This record gives sequence, structure tokens and C-alpha cells, in this order.
Amino acid sequence: MRNILIAGNWKMNGSRASIKELLDGLKAGIDKVTNAKMAVCAPSIYLADVAEQLAGSAISWGAQDVSTEASGAYTGEISASMIKEFGCKYTIIGHSERRTYHGETDELVAKKFAVVLEAGMTPIFCIGETLEEREKGITEEVVARQVQAVIDMHGAAVLGKGVIAYEPVWAIGTGKTASPEQAQDVHAFIRSVIAKADAGVAENIIIQYGGSMNAGNAKDLLSQPDIDGGLIGGASLKAPDFLAIGTSA
Ligand code: PGA
Repeated sequence: MRNILIAGNWKMNGSRASIKELLDGLKAGIDKVTNAKMAVCAPSIYLADVAEQLAGSAISWGAQDVSTEASGAYTGEISASMIKEFGCKYTIIGHSERRTYHGETDELVAKKFAVVLEAGMTPIFCIGETLEEREKGITEEVVARQVQAVIDMHGAAVLGKGVIAYEPVWAIGTGKTASPEQAQDVHAFIRSVIAKADAGVAENIIIQYGGSMNAGNAKDLLSQPDIDGGLIGGASLKAPDFLAIGTSA
């Protein structure tokens, strides 16, 4: 049985005050979430605050990106060991906003995958097709290529130490969720790609759905056999909404 993991991706949102309020709300309600693990991925500058406020709670935390480099002259970058120092369990890598606005390639994201693992954290590895790619009918080709990049660089056993987040780019922040059937089809396909390399990894790896998941649609998405959680943007910024997704699992 795979665990359900519901992770919030706060993106570039919040302030010290709003994060305190959000975390107070999450801590107050987390006991009601019995069927899922919950995590929040914060802007790096707030990780110290998040670590202090979530210490000893049932909620884990993580970062949203990482450098491929360990240290040195990389102005503005943050290394995996720095993130780990603040108690992070997860780091998101390859989010479509990083791929689109910062030109991150499959190869770069595959490098980040190993860097996060080597620091003792779990990568939340984002993949997904754009609207143009879906309309061209190449969704499967795109997600297979993205997953294969990690398998080719590190092997399937290493991939199996991470979490995959399937996020159709056209569903992110748009209010257009993939239907449960559309999402399930791609999740099953991703598992079949991994199974060609390692059936055990395919069976056990958590594949989250992301893209306008909210309290209203979470139950239908999470009840699909190959959907093992969610990566939640907008709906993770309000404690009641995020907790409601957790209790839908
Ligand atoms: P959204 O974002 O829930 O706001 O669509 C999801 C994500 O980008 O991870």
C-alpha cells in the first residue's frame, strides 16, 4: 500500500505574519487528517520560521528548488545541505514554473533529483505537459521523456526514492483541473513507463496529482487507484482548504 502525501507548494507567497497564521491553523487541525501525510514547501527565506513553528508537529516541510552545486560562487543559489540544515524532509524539483521561467531542462532536473537525495531529503519531482503538448496528443511522450531522464541518469532504484508530482501545466493555477479519469490515465501511464525499468519501483512510488486541486475535487482525484496524493498551490495557502484536502484522502 502506498501512503498518501499531500504537499503544499506556497510558491512566492506569504509573509512572516501570514505564514504564522497559516501554520497555527494547520497545527490546530492536523489531528483530523488521519489518512494522509501532510507537508508544506515554503519560500527558502522562511524555512527557519517554518522549522521552528512545525518542530514536533505531524506536518513536514520542504523547499521549492535547490542548486545542483554543493557550494561556491553561485550568487543567489541555495544548496541542498543548507536546506537540510533547516530540517526539511522534501525539496520540490522541476516545477513547471522553473522549467518555463528559468529554462530548467530534463537533464538539470535529473541532476537536482540526486542532489536532494544525497543530502538526505526526498525530491518531489514535477513533470507534466503543456496545453499545446496535450492538444498535439503528445502528453505521454512528454511525461515519459521527463521520467526517463532520471532513470537514464541514475537508474530506476534511485527514482524510487523520490516522489513524482504529475502536474498538467494547463491545470496549474487556472482553475481547470484534469478530470479524475484524465489524471488517472496519465498516472497509470507514468507507472507503466517506470515498470519497464523496475516493476517494484513502479508499484511503490508515490505519484501525486497537481493542478487546481482543492477541497471540492480532491476526493474524486484521490480515489483514483494511481493517484497517491496532491501537490497543492493556491489551496494550500488557507489552513481550512488545505486541511480539507487532507481529510478527503
Ligand atoms: P495550483 O498549483 O494548485 O495553484 O494549481 C499547483 C502547483 O503548481 O504545484
